[in-house]
Order: sequence, then structure tokens, then C-alpha cells
Amino acid sequence: MILVTGGAGFIGSNFILDWLAQSDEPVLNLDALTYAGNSENLASLTTDARYTFVHGSIGDGALVTNLMTRYQPRAIVNFAAESHVDRSIHGPEDFIQTNIVGAFRLLEAARAHWGGLRDRQEFRFLHISTDEVFGTLQAGDPAFDEQNQYQPNSPYSASKAAADHLMRAYHHTYGLPVLTTNCSNNYGPFHFPEKLIPLVIHNAISGRPLPLYGDGRQIRDWLYVKDHCSAIRRVLDAGLPGQTYNIGGWNERTNLEVVMMLCDVLDELKPRADGSSYQEQITFVTDRPGHDRRYAINAGKIEAELGWRPAETFETGIRKTVRWYLDHPDWVRNVTLGSYRNWIAKQYA
Ligand code: NAD
Ligand code: DAU
Repeated sequence: MILVTGGAGFIGSNFILDWLAQSDEPVLNLDALTYAGNSENLASLTTDARYTFVHGSIGDGALVTNLMTRYQPRAIVNFAAESHVDRSIHGPEDFIQTNIVGAFRLLEAARAHWGGLRDRQEFRFLHISTDEVFGTLQAGDPAFDEQNQYQPNSPYSASKAAADHLMRAYHHTYGLPVLTTNCSNNYGPFHFPEKLIPLVIHNAISGRPLPLYGDGRQIRDWLYVKDHCSAIRRVLDAGLPGQTYNIGGWNERTNLEVVMMLCDVLDELKPRADGSSYQEQITFVTDRPGHDRRYAINAGKIEAELGWRPAETFETGIRKTVRWYLDHPDWVRNVTLGSYRNWIAKQYA
């Protein structure tokens, strides 16, 4: 079996659903169920004997050690993190605790477990990281490859960078078979509507402003979440311990282009009552402090060495994503109640 941490979040829940759709290997999901964790994402697995959920933190060393002793996972896939840049600007503490201290505790428990295994070569610790650790690019700079210097610019990316360094050190010093992936921006089903794409879909159909930070010309490299999941499975199967793999969509867009495209798809699938475009709702708001201008991933290594390329284009992925949100109003309603409203009020005041 494999241990997945943070599996009730956006990417983790997509990963578990895909994993169990393609394999009968059981999954143990350890998740602290923060505001970003949602058991509803995995409701279809409630009676599935291959799936076990444990409510707890990766920072709880005793709990993680007990789970490893009891379940003997052959691999750990670490998604657990505080993941929202804007929240890290308002309050970095949780990011330090989970993304650095939590990752350290998980590594320590994994090292002890791995040290007692008969076949230590087979074990894998796959750490999910981000392209944001490399900092920002200017127009015309080559995309980030695995050799790029780490230059994190936000408390979020700095905390992820710290964890990546720990991963490297645990492989280098102890030989723990660690793999790290650095992925670009994901989008797709179960994406919490505080991030750009689901926020814009939700705001559009609720008749609210579509907020673009600054001039809206910042660039991100978007990847459909299920393509990220297939890349992770590939790295787990065939990646070399100690290596890092950049994952991206070969798909750079300005935020303005992304929002215009969402408006076009919504205009077609759910036209506004007055017949005008959702573009009418676009509003430019105060920029994010320290906002990175451009991210772009060179995903050539994972393609050359492991044969992975994204299957989805942005056009097909965005259409699937908009449809998913339109088809799941109950999911959206449940996650946008309560503390979500406090966040929106604070962030966009
Ligand atoms: P998310 O915020 O949607 O989910 C994070 C999950 O981790 C939640 O279920 C939360 O409850 C859980 N969690 C938080 N603290 C925990 C703790 N101490 N112990 C156990 N569980 C805890 O995040 P996501 O977008 O699914 O991102 C998953 C991972 O992928 C993160 O490590 C993130 O840095 C990385 N990543 C995300 C993206 C993206 O575009 N979303 C891109 C590249 C990398
Ligand atoms: O690059 C990978 C990263 O992508 C992951 O490591 C993070 O976990 C994930 O949250 C994401 O970070 P971003 O900061 O790029 O994602 P977000 O959706 O918050 O913002 C995308 C872009 O849109 C960014 O340039 C900021 C901008 N934005 C965002 C919001 C929420 C706006 O213009 N308006 C908004 O209201």
C-alpha cells in the first residue's frame, strides 16, 4: 500500500481517485483537514475497502510512526502543505509549521521505517513541490529547468524550498530514496475557490467581480490536474531516487488571457441573463505584494527520461473544468460557506 498525505486537498484527492481507478493497491490517506481539506472530495470511496482515511497531521511524529508500523507502506507521496501564496502573506506561521517542520517530522518517521525494511531499495518517498521555489522569470528568460537556482520570493515558496532542501539532504546523507517533483500551476475538479481559476468561475456565475491583481499580465504555466497525477505516478514508478523532476503544461498564459478564456467558455455554457459577456465583471485590484511576474517550466527531462507529456490541452482542460464546476453546485456551496467568506472579505476588502 501507499501512504498519501494531504489527500483530501485539491491535487491529493484527484491523485487518490485516479490511483484507485487504475490500480487495486490500497491507499492510506493522512490529512489534517484544514480549511483546504475536504472529505467530500473522496465521498465515492467511503465504502471502498482499498481506501483508509486517518485524520491527523504530518507534524505528529508519533502518529506517523504508528501508521507506518501498522500499515507498512511501500511508498509515501507527500502532498500535505499549506498551499496558498496570499494566505502565506497574511500569516506565514502555519506554512512554517506544516511545510517545513511537518515535512521534517514525516522524513524522520520515514527514515526510521525505511531503516527497518528488509528490501530498502524498493521504498520511495515522493515529495510534491512547486515551480515557485525557483523565483520569478522575466519575459524572454528560458523556462525553469532542474538546474535553476532556488530563489523563493514568498513565505509559501520559501517554506516549500526549505522542505525541498531537507528532501535532498535526507537522500544525500542517509540514502533515503527520495524523489522530488516541482510542478507548475494546476487546475481542474475539486480546486478550492480561493485560487484564480475556480474563484473566477464561482464569482462569474454568482454575479461578482472577477479580480485581477495589478495589470493582469503575470504569466503562469497551467497544467490540468489529472496530467499532474499521471506524472506523479510515472515518477513513482520509474524516477531515480535523489533526482528532481520538473512538471509543467508547456502552456504559458497571462492571467488576463486565462480569465478572458473562462469568460468565453462560460458565455457559451451558461450565458448571462442580460446576454452580455462575463468579461463585463473583470475588475483590476491591488497587486499581490512581491508578486512573481512569470513562471514557466521546461518539462524536457521528465519527457526524455520517463516518457511523460501532458495529455490535455488548455482548451480541453478548461472546458472540462468549467463543466465540472457547473455540474457540482452543491460542492461549491459547501466549500464557500463559513470561513471562506471571511477570507474573501479580508483579501478583497
Ligand atoms: P491544497 O491546499 O488544496 O491541499 C492541501 C491538503 O493538505 C489539504 O487537504 C490539507 O487539509 C492538508 N494538510 C495541510 N496541513 C496538513 C498537515 N499538517 N498534515 C496533514 N495534512 C495537511 O493543496 P494542493 O493545491 O492540493 O497542493 C498539494 C501539494 O502540491 C502542495 O504541497 C503544493 O505545494 C503542491 N503544488 C500545488 C500546485 C497547485 O497548483 N495547486 C502546484 C505545484 C505544487
Ligand atoms: O506555480 C505553482 C503554484 O501555483 C503552487 O505552488 C501553489 O500552491 C498554487 O496555489 C499556485 O500558486 P499561484 O499563486 O500561482 O496561484 P493563484 O491561483 O493564487 O494565482 C494565480 C495567478 O493569478 C497569480 O499570478 C495571482 C493571480 N490572481 C490570483 C487570485 C486569487 C489574481 O490575479 N486574482 C486573484 O483573485
